[in-house]
Amino acid sequence: MNSPGQNSDEDFITSINYHKQDDLEESKDELSVGLQKYSTDESSDNSTDSGTGSNLSTIPDKSEYFSSKVSYQRRALIRKSISLQLRQIGTNVCQLLTPIISLLLIILLKSIAQSRLSESMNAPIYSGLPYIFNIPLVPVGQLGLLFNLSNCDQWYMYGFQDDVDQETRDFFGYNKGTPIFDPESKGILDGDKNVLQTACPSSERATPYFKEKNASETINQYLFNTLEHLNTQKINYKDMDSEVPDIWMLPDGAFNVYKANESRLEYNVQVNDLRYIQYHRNNGVTKLGIQNPLSNKTSYFINAVQGQISAVDLMNKAYISKLFPNTFIYSGVQIMPISFSFDQEIMKVINMLGGGLFPISLCLMLPVFIYNIVLEKEQKLVEIMKMNGLRMRNYWIITFIFNFILYFITCFVFIMFGRFVLGLTFFYETSYLVLIIFLLGWGLSQISLGFFFSAFLRTAQTASMLGYLISIWVTLVAVSLNITLFAPPQEVSWWLLLYPTFPYTRFFFEISTACGLSSCIRSFNDLSPEATRCLWILYVEAAVFMIFAFYFQQVIPQDYGVPKHPLFCCRALKYKKKSSITTREKIEFLNRQESDLKNIADDSELAQLEDDDAKKERKTVYELPEEDYYKYPLIVKDIRKVYPGIDGRPPKVATKKFCLKIKKGEVFGLLGPNGAGKTTLISMLTGLYRPDSGNAWTAGFDIKNNLEQIQLQMGVCPQFDILWPDLTVQEHLLFYARLKGISPKEESSMVKEAMQDVFLEKFAKFKVNQLSGGMKRRLSVAISLVGDPKIVYLDEPSTGLDPENRRQLWDILSGIKGKRSLVITTHSMEEADVLCQRIGIVSDGVLRCVGPQVRLKTLYGGGYHLFVNCHKSKYLRELKREAKRRAKASSHNTTREESKIKMEINKTYDLNQIHLRLKEFIQETVPNVYLLQEFNGNFTFQIPIEGFNAEKLFLEMESNKEDLMVSDWGISQCTLDDVFTKICTPKEN
Ligand SMILES: Nc1ncnc2c1ncn2[C@@H]1O[C@H](COP(=O)(O)OP(=O)(O)OP(=O)(O)O)[C@@H](O)[C@H]1O
Ligand SMILES: [Mg+2]
Repeated sequence: MNSPGQNSDEDFITSINYHKQDDLEESKDELSVGLQKYSTDESSDNSTDSGTGSNLSTIPDKSEYFSSKVSYQRRALIRKSISLQLRQIGTNVCQLLTPIISLLLIILLKSIAQSRLSESMNAPIYSGLPYIFNIPLVPVGQLGLLFNLSNCDQWYMYGFQDDVDQETRDFFGYNKGTPIFDPESKGILDGDKNVLQTACPSSERATPYFKEKNASETINQYLFNTLEHLNTQKINYKDMDSEVPDIWMLPDGAFNVYKANESRLEYNVQVNDLRYIQYHRNNGVTKLGIQNPLSNKTSYFINAVQGQISAVDLMNKAYISKLFPNTFIYSGVQIMPISFSFDQEIMKVINMLGGGLFPISLCLMLPVFIYNIVLEKEQKLVEIMKMNGLRMRNYWIITFIFNFILYFITCFVFIMFGRFVLGLTFFYETSYLVLIIFLLGWGLSQISLGFFFSAFLRTAQTASMLGYLISIWVTLVAVSLNITLFAPPQEVSWWLLLYPTFPYTRFFFEISTACGLSSCIRSFNDLSPEATRCLWILYVEAAVFMIFAFYFQQVIPQDYGVPKHPLFCCRALKYKKKSSITTREKIEFLNRQESDLKNIADDSELAQLEDDDAKKERKTVYELPEEDYYKYPLIVKDIRKVYPGIDGRPPKVATKKFCLKIKKGEVFGLLGPNGAGKTTLISMLTGLYRPDSGNAWTAGFDIKNNLEQIQLQMGVCPQFDILWPDLTVQEHLLFYARLKGISPKEESSMVKEAMQDVFLEKFAKFKVNQLSGGMKRRLSVAISLVGDPKIVYLDEPSTGLDPENRRQLWDILSGIKGKRSLVITTHSMEEADVLCQRIGIVSDGVLRCVGPQVRLKTLYGGGYHLFVNCHKSKYLRELKREAKRRAKASSHNTTREESKIKMEINKTYDLNQIHLRLKEFIQETVPNVYLLQEFNGNFTFQIPIEGFNAEKLFLEMESNKEDLMVSDWGISQCTLDDVFTKICTPKEN
């Protein structure tokens, strides 16, 4: 153990523990005396403050304690997750079926492809007509017929490099295309003999004709400007034959000449290879009509390569013809017949399809990850686990591992099914190492994304929907982009790769198309630079999203808990730097802070609202030396909580400098009207909210710095049952026992005992959704008691229970009285009266009064209550009967006579008079009596204890009962209800 002189934060805590352990043995005897005294003399409660017991002495050293408990917590979490997952049969089946269905879909496509190919296997092999280039002196109109060309415009642009000599210019010559057979045309371009094959009857132009580029612009500038212009024209994509307006402006190709003389011809050629079919003229050499003999239909396609060969052939023929006027070369092209293995080709197609379908198989884990996390958050299960000692680090580690196991199982099914059931080449030819490293990266990315998105989501339903939308849509978009905009050799834009689905689908696309196009990836060396980049990006993004997830989980406000400051990391660093201050400085600082707190604004208001006992309680807390804090299961010192104002409302001060001290074994009742601040106080003590100022200690550990230690030693029963519907009673108790660090040897016996305590042993194997409301409540109480907590907070434990169940619960709680300290909030005064040893009434966030029930009743109950029922009707009934008799006896009209007599009686027995008389009588008989309420002839008087003579009242009442028309009366001691009403009713009422 460290010496108290050391400087770090950790050492400070352990040094206090060290001190506590030593002190404790000495104070043990003294403490038990204190406890006895407390139980026999409750009114002297506040003056006897040494009470605690040996239990608290077992609070261990922080580091030692946690190192042994971490493994229990992790075991608890993993076993809980497995039990829950195994019960979600539907989800599990869907999970495993998704990759199988995707792969089966591929097989379906394979069989469709097979049936189509086997159809065409019977068709004759068609290798197309031979295409002869530039036939001389054949009218283009006839060519047009042969190749289905609708008109005969065909032209090229040409130009010379800037520094070409005059000889080249002359030798190359010129040709304007018009008029036909321009006598001035000369050189290679001499239309008469060379490249100009014939006239175009429709346009009366030599064709193809050559147009020299304008001196002010380059060929490419011209082409670019023309395309800019054509882009503004409306294109009819539906009609393949339709042409873009002004398409004649675009040449079929262009020649750039470097050198031309008898011994040398140097030029380059470019042809129109635009992908839009409408950007090619119907007669242009780059859009040839080919007739399909099977369908007998002519289809057009862009044939840039043939166009290029044709243009080169044209120029070469012209050159040869210039040099050798009688020589002409015939040249043409034809497609070779095709022969291939159908099975191999189909497999290639399947592998290509895999690039789109495989990614979908493994993208649906994300919604499951997000859903599981958000569900536990939404149902407050995380909060209740935290209050029961869960360390969030363990929670995240186990969630991570568990999600990874789920993902691993899905991947395993995917690979095994693909390889052994379907026998796809992709699975047995691609390197396993590459596949595993890739899938590992994607798994990590998905888990990180799950954590990341769950920070922003509050309901499980939204989480699930959003998860599926994100997964499916982004994957579909990414897959589509891979085969369209970013089809190789294009690369995916860098900014798209910032979201993991894009590198994931791209990598899948690359490795499956590799199988389809050439051979599968056998090692990392076979990967393209882009694929390697995607692999790296997956891992980097997994790490980055994990960091983001961690950060946003801390700073985004959730329904519960307090978010950290957005710059909390910097603050932590700053704090670390400062940690070199000495322990003494630290204590001085804390003391200074506490004394500052004592002087803050609402002191005067508190002085007015708190009664003497509450003030005394505050004083004893202030005066308690800090080294004695470890003796108490709860010390609350000046705790204050202000909720920020929302929607323009002012901030709400929920608790104001609350002070309280609870001894070991004490059952303390916290009463107060709605909105008094009870739940807020408990929420701060259990770590749900952080107090704005002040602090609280459990067994010497404070909620600001050592919350985790406190949570391991406390139990909480929240106002509403927070349980997993699919876990059994036994599983719940085992989980929480492990969470609180109960060793495996003890856990079973402890859980059995807990079930016996709450009469649930018969229902041990019942799932929570099979229990009644009362049973659930008892289970919640049992959970709060499991693991020997030093202090248990029960927030309205009996709400919603029937009288029978409520009694049982009281029995349970009475049974543990004295063993543990309990803080109970309730709206049932009867419950508080039965269970609690001390009661505090809170109103407007202030502890108004505190003490044992008897003392509160004495102080605020105002003595006794006298109830008097004064019902005139009971007496009048007899008199009216008498009036009837008298009326009948008289000789006059009976009805008239009767009503006359009744009126007389009513006059004589005036209601107000009767009540007035009664009140005067009571005031004369009992001194200082006070009328509390009066309603419909029912009176409640308050009688102070001082000077009250019960015998006199009894005698007087009995003798004057008839005369005062009192039908019923009684006297009782005042109840806790009266105390509550008196404290919590605003003064003006
Ligand atoms: N998250 C919150 N944001 C703003 N104000 C809050 C919040 N929670 C509670 N309050 C306000 O703080 C005050 C105390 O609320 P609290 O829930 O502690 O009362 P309570 O004594 O538990 O009441 P009840 O008996 O009805 O449960 C109330 O005025 C309430 O409106
Ligand atoms: Mg409440």
